[in-house]
Amino acid sequence: MRAAQISEYGDPSVLQINEVETPVPKPGQVLVEVYAASLNPFDTTVRSGRLKDAIPLQFPATLGGDIAGIVSGLGDGVNSFNIGDKVYGQASIVAGNSGAFAEFAATSEKQIAKAPSDLDFQQIASLPLVGVSALQATMEHINLHSGQKIFIHGGAGGIGTIAIQIAKHLGAFVATTAKDAGADLVKTLGADEIINYETHDFAQILNGFDAVFDTVGGDDFNKSLTILKKGGIAVSMITQPDEAKARELEVTALHQATKVNTEKLDKLTKLVEDGVIVTQVNKVFPLDNIKEAFKARESGATPGKVVIAIKT
Ligand SMILES: NC(=O)c1ccc[n+]([C@@H]2O[C@H](COP(=O)([O-])OP(=O)(O)OC[C@H]3O[C@@H](n4cnc5c(N)ncnc54)[C@H](OP(=O)(O)O)[C@@H]3O)[C@@H](O)[C@H]2O)c1
Repeated sequence: MRAAQISEYGDPSVLQINEVETPVPKPGQVLVEVYAASLNPFDTTVRSGRLKDAIPLQFPATLGGDIAGIVSGLGDGVNSFNIGDKVYGQASIVAGNSGAFAEFAATSEKQIAKAPSDLDFQQIASLPLVGVSALQATMEHINLHSGQKIFIHGGAGGIGTIAIQIAKHLGAFVATTAKDAGADLVKTLGADEIINYETHDFAQILNGFDAVFDTVGGDDFNKSLTILKKGGIAVSMITQPDEAKARELEVTALHQATKVNTEKLDKLTKLVEDGVIVTQVNKVFPLDNIKEAFKARESGATPGKVVIAIKT
């Protein structure tokens, strides 16, 4: 089978399409024929070597996490899936699986779920990590309710676009940061207040918010605590909270580690099938053009998601 692999860390030029053995599912894993996959910032982190001390890769290594495809094999002990099931989820090597950017992926049955109906594979592949991240933050950590005000920092990104849709569905007022094409996109998703982060400082404009969901990181996360009401909550995908500042302001601040598992994917499926979430695929590249796909995602000029079409 063909797989997008690296044999050294670096920029997108280190990616190569190699002919490799089809993986054999281990006990508890399923073999998925991958129809589409999608890119996340974590794939760039892995490729660049930023995790090489914490999680050293064995080269050649197949990159990628998010997959959508059809179950074509079952490891010992798998009883939740059958051959032929249309599934989605994650297959990252960092979690002990075989990697997503390949014609087949062996992955834990606990990291996949039956795919939402009525979507094509490219739409489905755009969802797992960003969709679970957005629902875990808004519905589980924040427990967002109708009439509340949430600031979503980075609203035009993979996670932000899904979070805005969930927040509007829950009846919240949504303020968000975006610029250029991203600002147009967040408007169509229903954002109530859009702040261009290049020309305006959100902390000077917003106050009295119930919740912050930060998908950008850096100093902005702890700065965003000041826009919360007492008792408010802020969740960051990236930055560790300044606990002392949170205590002083009488707010809750936490860092989220997203857990993509069958239970959360099933919740995501329901939101998609109920029409709450519309997928936000911006660009699609064939596997052969994986370098261009990474460049497009890393350009900062591609709101929403970049998808890899593998079987068409
Ligand atoms: N902790 C976890 O388990 C976990 C899981 C998933 C993701 N993450 C992290 O979560 C973050 C977001 O992921 P994603 O998939 O949504 O990424 P993404 O698609 O790249 O979106 C990031 C967004 O941030 C915006 N942005 C960049 N700089 C900004 C600034 N200074 N002010 C305001 N907005 C800014 C970008 O907008 P422009 O294009 O307009 O610049 C983009 O829309 C990434 O850092 C990722 O690594 C963490």
